[in-house]
Amino acid sequence: MKTRIRVRPGKGLQGNVRVPSDKSLSHRALILGALATGDTHVRGFLPAGDTLATLGCMEALGVRITRHTETTLTVHGVGLGGLEQADTPLDCVNAGTGIRLLAGVMSGQQFPSVLDGSDQLRRRPMRRITEPLRIMGADIEDTEGCAPLYINGSFLNGITYRMPIASGQVKGCLLLAGMFADSPTTVIEPGPSRDHTERMLTAMGVDVHVDGYNITISPPASLKPLDLTIASDISSAAFLIVLGALNANTSICLEDVGINPTRTGLLDVLAAMGAAIRQTNPRDEGGEPVADLVIEQRPLTATAVNGEVVVRMIDEFPILMVAATQARGKTTVTEAEELRYKETDRIAVMATELRKLGATVQENKDGFVISGPQYLRGAVVDGHNDHRVAMSMVVAGLLAMGETIVEDAHCINDSFPGFVEVLQQLGADVEWVD
Ligand code: S3P
Repeated sequence: MKTRIRVRPGKGLQGNVRVPSDKSLSHRALILGALATGDTHVRGFLPAGDTLATLGCMEALGVRITRHTETTLTVHGVGLGGLEQADTPLDCVNAGTGIRLLAGVMSGQQFPSVLDGSDQLRRRPMRRITEPLRIMGADIEDTEGCAPLYINGSFLNGITYRMPIASGQVKGCLLLAGMFADSPTTVIEPGPSRDHTERMLTAMGVDVHVDGYNITISPPASLKPLDLTIASDISSAAFLIVLGALNANTSICLEDVGINPTRTGLLDVLAAMGAAIRQTNPRDEGGEPVADLVIEQRPLTATAVNGEVVVRMIDEFPILMVAATQARGKTTVTEAEELRYKETDRIAVMATELRKLGATVQENKDGFVISGPQYLRGAVVDGHNDHRVAMSMVVAGLLAMGETIVEDAHCINDSFPGFVEVLQQLGADVEWVD
């Protein structure tokens, strides 16, 4: 298996491409489809490491899933009470979304389960879900605040919970647990996190009431199955958006990108930096807004990023750090400490890797300061088994002088299988090497 990517800069990039489908929606389609009464048909499923791990977990819980093609499948829903006890621990591999959403579901079952994953997943914080789940009456033990999670099925009670951090995963976990509770559950967010769970539950006929940042779910009798088309993941598109905005002689059209406003923080920040990104062909797919994005190169200027936009672009900071090295002035990010609890500590890891390309990065507890524009020079860098770090470093390599090798890059398949091939399609000189 090739795990290194060789990057040679200097090519203008042109073309129309479709990046892979949305990871957040693919996880939710599997889990909610499994709990529906009847068959959920999914087109545009993301067949990546994280989502295939969730698929494996659902099968281990007795759910039949028919794969018609790589990206088209039918989830044969077993109904809210139809999951079966798994014989072995549920292996979420690297997927934080998978383990946290499933913890909500498994807490409401009448049988025990164990949720586990890779060493990387075992390092990520789980008290943010186990504490509120326990308030709901869940019998759940974490392992010093992390996975493995040991759950004994129990009856849940509805609660009102004020979330200390804005998190789509924590909110999703509690809303899913709320489906199995004896009364409504209200989650109060400090800011707007991605609302895919609420939208999909509503499309399935569940009473989810949204009042500002208060979201209340009433336990449903059943879920209606869906016929769902999932658009491209804006968090995958982000790497090509930044590349398109910065690479000389470049014009890229990204087709069919999800532009849910809880996910488009990067577009807002890049617009403020002077980027030329046009949305065309706006439409709605499965209750989610979608458009094509046309990106042309422009000089960028620095900006300050803080407040509510941080959560709306939480997965896009590694690639924003690359953009900041090329923007004129001082880009300052604050209130983004959550970046330290992702697949890696993304502030520290990106600072380390960008420095190998000669960049100067000031790392702060809750963000960073990067002054630009800076010349980057090719080097050997490391993806740290973090898909978004590895892809950011490939983009950085394309903007540097000379050749870059990104090691430990196989993790890109966790969210963006075919990343290298998409770049090649646009004309980039990038390839997997031994
Ligand atoms: C996700 C929520 C975010 C995001 C992750 C996917 C989701 O995590 O970083 O990639 O699908 O709900 P947090 O909830 O930890 O912010």
